[in-house]
Amino acid sequence: MMSLKINSLENYQEVYQRSIENPSLFWNEIAENFVWKKKWKKTLEYDWSIPETKWFLEGKLNITENCLDRHLELKGDQTAIIWEPNNPEEEAEHISYKQLHRRVCSFANVLKNNGVVKGDRICIYMPMVSEIAIAVLACARIGAIHSVVFAGFSSTALAARINDAQCKVLLTADGGFRGAKITPLKEIADEALKTCPSIKKSIVLQRTKQSISWNSNLDVWWHEELDKVDDHCPAEVMDAEDKLFILYTSGSTGNPKGMVHTCGGYMVYATYSFLNVFQYTEGDVYWCTADIGWITGHSYILYGPLASGATTVMFEGVPSYPDFGRFWEVCEKHKVNQFYTAPTAIRALAKHSLSFVNAYDLSNLKVLGTVGEPINEEAWHWYNENIGKKKCPIVDTWWQTETGGMMISSLANVTKDKPTFATVPLPGIQPVLLNTEGQEISETKAEGILAIKHPWPSLARTIYGDHKRYKNVYFSAYANYYFPGDGALRDKDGNYRITGRVDDVVIVSGHNLGTAPIENAINEHDLVIESAIVGFPDDIKGNALYAYVILYDENQASEDLVKEINQLISKKIGPIAKCDKIQFVSGLPKTRSGKIMRRILRKIASNDISNLGDVSTLLNPLIVEEIIKNRH
Ligand code: WTA
Repeated sequence: MMSLKINSLENYQEVYQRSIENPSLFWNEIAENFVWKKKWKKTLEYDWSIPETKWFLEGKLNITENCLDRHLELKGDQTAIIWEPNNPEEEAEHISYKQLHRRVCSFANVLKNNGVVKGDRICIYMPMVSEIAIAVLACARIGAIHSVVFAGFSSTALAARINDAQCKVLLTADGGFRGAKITPLKEIADEALKTCPSIKKSIVLQRTKQSISWNSNLDVWWHEELDKVDDHCPAEVMDAEDKLFILYTSGSTGNPKGMVHTCGGYMVYATYSFLNVFQYTEGDVYWCTADIGWITGHSYILYGPLASGATTVMFEGVPSYPDFGRFWEVCEKHKVNQFYTAPTAIRALAKHSLSFVNAYDLSNLKVLGTVGEPINEEAWHWYNENIGKKKCPIVDTWWQTETGGMMISSLANVTKDKPTFATVPLPGIQPVLLNTEGQEISETKAEGILAIKHPWPSLARTIYGDHKRYKNVYFSAYANYYFPGDGALRDKDGNYRITGRVDDVVIVSGHNLGTAPIENAINEHDLVIESAIVGFPDDIKGNALYAYVILYDENQASEDLVKEINQLISKKIGPIAKCDKIQFVSGLPKTRSGKIMRRILRKIASNDISNLGDVSTLLNPLIVEEIIKNRH
């Protein structure tokens, strides 16, 4: 058995080299560190022209034995999950590995009692309470495929996801607390279920105790069901390639894609990447602020940390409640050592007084992380100086729902970080830059289309029910490469910086303009917080550029500022990238994971507002009306 954790730069270089010279041998050794019910016969088989990827063939396991059972003997009393409630007056929960194991087994029996068998799809639409973690693990325990839908999605979005996967059971709650608000989850679910005939049972957790309507044909109470079962539940034997979960991710076009992850490879890679990127050490307290409804929550609140025997924090609330110091209050309270969040959150918090930060003791922090979008230089420095006090490395982790785990990132205190760069590939990951003809760019310092050359264990195996789309989106643009849809540049030392989606391009006068660099130029203006660029039809140029710009102070919007912004763009990129229209806005339409919905901005810019699609899934649906009202 080899040790999982890389401990120095030389060690990283040596391990990385080995991992790409003989990936099968490498992952074979890594996988030996896990509990298998039966060893695999072959490490890897793949053919990306189909495309098909299989890891640990004929291996048998259950991921929950790795996350729970195997820790019982040595660290049964250690805290597995610290749950921090939305309301700071409510008490936090500390759940030990023993307790978590028992609660998962009990709830797995509830699922069985309600007719769930291996292979069934279970939709989980719940707030960030410890029961959502238990629900996810209970599904995995009995081989049911979980599909978590973020509790901020609308009934239409929920119904679409339930129907796509033909889920048999829904797990939900009466409501959920988020900041000063309550989300009426049961009411939304009731609406969704009117169009979801596949659902045979809905198991309802009592959280807010608000009044709800009850459908006695479908609904049962979570706590009443628990009274009927014991806490003994053997783990189902799963094949390494059996489905573990489906998780929907929105494409830039079309319906959401149900990405399918499998048991063996996903477990191995989520755990290996967790330990190495964060350099988690026994006894540390680790906190990822994501929601379980996203891949970050799946891989790096639950599966990776728990399979590593870590103590992982789950937070029910939002960073602004009861005030903008909440994250830092929680860091102090639970003595957090590793803190992982999104650039969007960092930028939002950086807008507020430093007194919200300085009121708390952050001296336990050792490692900071970011995920989800490129982090701009200003936010990086704010995070480094005010939160990390310049002594914590920042791991800027590039990855996707589809990749299952972190792909490009520094390893804390092992490899160097560099502001705004995700930096280097993890062992086993072979990124390349392609030119527009699809050829690999051989120079180290270069810019191009990011692609991945060889399979890694946690690659999503398909889009649920639509393998053809899977092939088209990820494996057709460039034969024999996985195509993530992002652009990147590489510095002379081989560090990668993700420059943004390559499908957010606008062709202006025949010039291919990525929106990301123009936005970066605008954001450099002292008065600007954030911006988004889209194209709109122009008779002469084909497309012209429309910029939506958020200012620190809305009162500073002026014609002069419009000129200054365009001068800045001219200077940074060239006059070709100047914006024909610049609209000052108080916010941008964003998905719950913080991505700008350019589709909506494009339609508004083109004055085509008759059919904006479902805006209810946005973080801030009201902003759309404001933008339409003030459009140029
Ligand atoms: C973007 C989130 C720059 C990227 C785990 C990717 C990033 C998409 C980074 C996936 C990063 C994620 N730097 N861009 N560190 N991390 N992205 O599926 O465009 O929600 O393709 O997965 O987010 O988003 P997803």
